[in-house]
Amino acid sequence: MKELSVGKETSISRFTDLFPSFAGGVEGKYSVTLHLAHILNRRWEYLSGRMPGPESDYGSHRIPLTNELGVIVYGWHRLAADLQVEVAEACRQWLDGSKAMSKEEVVAHLKSDDPRALLQEADRVRQAFCGNAVHLRGLIEFSNHCQRDCLYCGLRRSNQKLPRYRMSADEIFESAKQAGALGYKTIVMQSGVDGFYRIEVLCDLLKKIKNEVDCAVTLCIGERSYEDYRKLREAGADRYLLRFETSDKELFEKLKPDSSYEQRRLCLDWLKELGYQVGSGNMIGLPGQTLEILAEDILLLRDLNLDMIGIGPFIAHPETPLAGEPNGAMALTLKAVALIRILTQNALIPATTAMGSIDPEGRQKALRAGANVIMPNVTPTKYRCYYEIYPHKICINERPGDCASCVQVLAGSVGRTIAKDYGHGFKKIRA
Ligand code: 5AD
Ligand code: FES
Repeated sequence: MKELSVGKETSISRFTDLFPSFAGGVEGKYSVTLHLAHILNRRWEYLSGRMPGPESDYGSHRIPLTNELGVIVYGWHRLAADLQVEVAEACRQWLDGSKAMSKEEVVAHLKSDDPRALLQEADRVRQAFCGNAVHLRGLIEFSNHCQRDCLYCGLRRSNQKLPRYRMSADEIFESAKQAGALGYKTIVMQSGVDGFYRIEVLCDLLKKIKNEVDCAVTLCIGERSYEDYRKLREAGADRYLLRFETSDKELFEKLKPDSSYEQRRLCLDWLKELGYQVGSGNMIGLPGQTLEILAEDILLLRDLNLDMIGIGPFIAHPETPLAGEPNGAMALTLKAVALIRILTQNALIPATTAMGSIDPEGRQKALRAGANVIMPNVTPTKYRCYYEIYPHKICINERPGDCASCVQVLAGSVGRTIAKDYGHGFKKIRA
């Protein structure tokens, strides 16, 4: 039996906190109920997990993990023998993977010249916790107007060379319908920070989409008030993406001169409180980002217990103050993806467009290093080249159907299938 390798008090509460999201994934997959138990003088005392309901009266089974921690599985006897082995193995792997990784260890991995073992481990963890399927999210970039002036972003308000567009509510709805017809079970509505769309307009649009298209909806429209987030959630938005970009407050405020780091973090808390499935992330290789800062980003992504984590390399845009700075490297991005997979186990992690834009094989490489989501573009082709967050973005001449066929081939080329369900966050299942 393994000894816990970290300080007792902190380690037990850490496992207690992490357990429900792990358990949710296993419960959804195997129709069992899991408890984490503290083993004291041979007695198993409840630590965390759902209480078994009346339907769980199928006998339980105890899986000791360490001298003091074990998992009780209700519904065990309904499982076929090979599935029992899988559940027990998942519990052991969860414990192994949940051991605290120090900042120094993360930095050492990021520095490594030979990350093959790390990437392989991430691929194994992805297979064990998320399975083989890739989830598709149809991306509608509906407005490239932005009120803010982030130094890295091509949509920043000071970029006067960029022609601006806004899709009408009808156009957005048509794109959502098209996404549904292409088989996507999630649409992502993304824009700059654009106050043009009144909250009522967005809510009506959301209701219409949710009524008429069989899909989950993710919003990615930046910082808003609590009230706006509440109304959007009520109107049917399921998920929200809001990257913190960098966990270093000083760097954050330098790169985002009209934003505050605290406000960003507060928005993430609000979104969680309102019951959204929440995604965040950062950029890799931002000017001024050290490996220590990147390690802190990665540990923060772990500790925020997110449903979705989207990251990508920084790509210098010529019409921004960061023109001419070096781009983030694909190798470093892959190590970050792998570490995030290993540390979060079941987060939904996209192989992002930025990865595909700096490396023609970038998205395939990410799918092999822990990623399990692709976000094919469904924006009407005529608008695509204007959503120029960074230069040399892929897919700007393609039509929605082209991207749909392309991502099928892409997933297949790395031996993966396409998921048919909504691909909700695993953390959601525990609710
Ligand atoms: N390079 C790469 N990614 C960028 N983003 C913004 N500007 C750039 C850039 N120059 C990312 C940010 C933002 C997301 C929509 O795009 O992380 O959250
Ligand atoms: Fe708008 Fe970056 S300039 S979020």
